[in-house]
Amino acid sequence: MAIAEISLGPAQAIPRGKRAVFDLPGGSQVLVLHHKKRWLAIENRCPHAGATLSEGLIKGPSLMCVWHGWTFDLESGVCRTHPETSLKFFPLRLVEGELWLQIETEDK
Ligand code: FES
Repeated sequence: MAIAEISLGPAQAIPRGKRAVFDLPGGSQVLVLHHKKRWLAIENRCPHAGATLSEGLIKGPSLMCVWHGWTFDLESGVCRTHPETSLKFFPLRLVEGELWLQIETEDK
């Protein structure tokens, strides 16, 4: 595995309370949202049964999946009702107003 960084564009395109979904190489997606003065990058797939988390409900510090109601802490990623399960976060950097996402890629 190798690490690659991809640009997601200007951070101001995802202001407070907004979210955006980006396609990743390999067919998965990342959900980027602005939460508590910072941006979070989360795999856009619920670890329970695969629902699209970008349709989830954000209430305070939590993201609730709309399929079965599992609720995840946005700081730690841990599911509040099934703490053995967590969101997958991607490292995200803000560089001169642009968001850069780190992903693992296959070595070739
Ligand atoms: S798929 Fe998300 S709670 Fe079941």
